[in-house]
Amino acid sequence: MLRGRHLLSMGDLSGEDVGHILARATIFKEQREKGILSDELRGKTVALIFEKPSTRTRVSFETGIHELGGNPLFLSAQELQLSRGETIADTARTLSRYVHAIVARVTSHDNLLELAKHSTVPVINALSPLEHPCQALADLMTIQEKKGRLRGLKLAWVGDGNNVCNSLLLACSLVGIDVSIACPPGYEPNAEVLELGRRRAAESGSKLEVINDPNEAVFGADVVYTDVWVSMGQEGEKMRRLQDFKGYQVNAELLRRAKEDVIFMHCLPAHRGEEVTDEVIDGPHSVVFDQAENRLHVQKAILTMVI
Ligand code: CP
Ligand code: NVA
Repeated sequence: MLRGRHLLSMGDLSGEDVGHILARATIFKEQREKGILSDELRGKTVALIFEKPSTRTRVSFETGIHELGGNPLFLSAQELQLSRGETIADTARTLSRYVHAIVARVTSHDNLLELAKHSTVPVINALSPLEHPCQALADLMTIQEKKGRLRGLKLAWVGDGNNVCNSLLLACSLVGIDVSIACPPGYEPNAEVLELGRRRAAESGSKLEVINDPNEAVFGADVVYTDVWVSMGQEGEKMRRLQDFKGYQVNAELLRRAKEDVIFMHCLPAHRGEEVTDEVIDGPHSVVFDQAENRLHVQKAILTMVI
């Protein structure tokens, strides 16, 4: 059961938890398509603390909470007393007296851990520099919809071993998807996350490898995934990164090495012309807006399960 639990990392979830979240999200999606909305969050307020910009995460959480009859309370970090030196611990203790859950997008993963430590209501990671679990769950839902299964598929990650990559490798290794990550030397996923991913892959019988060659990673893949080369907060490294990631673009030529029915995924926002070409992201294999939509359904499932 997820009731009362924080969701800070994909590592917090078991295979059973993920199965429950995806099943519930699918029901929310089917009901919404028929115009049926439940009011499971009636009388509940969810605080949304954002220290970084967002389009999908903010709008999908606010819309989802509203559709469930709850009250989404958007709090930009600059407008909270946090910006004037109130501690994260006191902020967590205070908010816990008013709201029923806290969704937080943070500039440091340690800040998220501190918030969760002092919060008596569930805290959900809405992106930290280390992980993006809500994205990974929406991605599993999308893969399942498009491929009809998860176990036994091959996913190739091309580019930066970043927050989205960390959560995705944990999600895939948990459910039995083989993962091949191609990144330039020095841009590998977080070492501890990788270690947990390897343990999970051994348990689920899947493969997890980190290599440098995108051609090798993409060969025979069912899913090809990429993300920006410069994440939020890394703007100062932009010139070096653009240089280091040359050769890691997902373009039509690279995609041809995958299976014929490959799906192309990207968490968005995309930097078209850098990590992906227009031809690929707008092409017949792309499912990027289905991923974006599934954020709404998956987050409704998470909220109704933790609150
Ligand atoms: N994918 C994602 O989290 O997008 P936003 O930054 O727009 O929320
Ligand atoms: N890796 C990106 C993901 C944005 C949703 C970032 O952290 O900026």
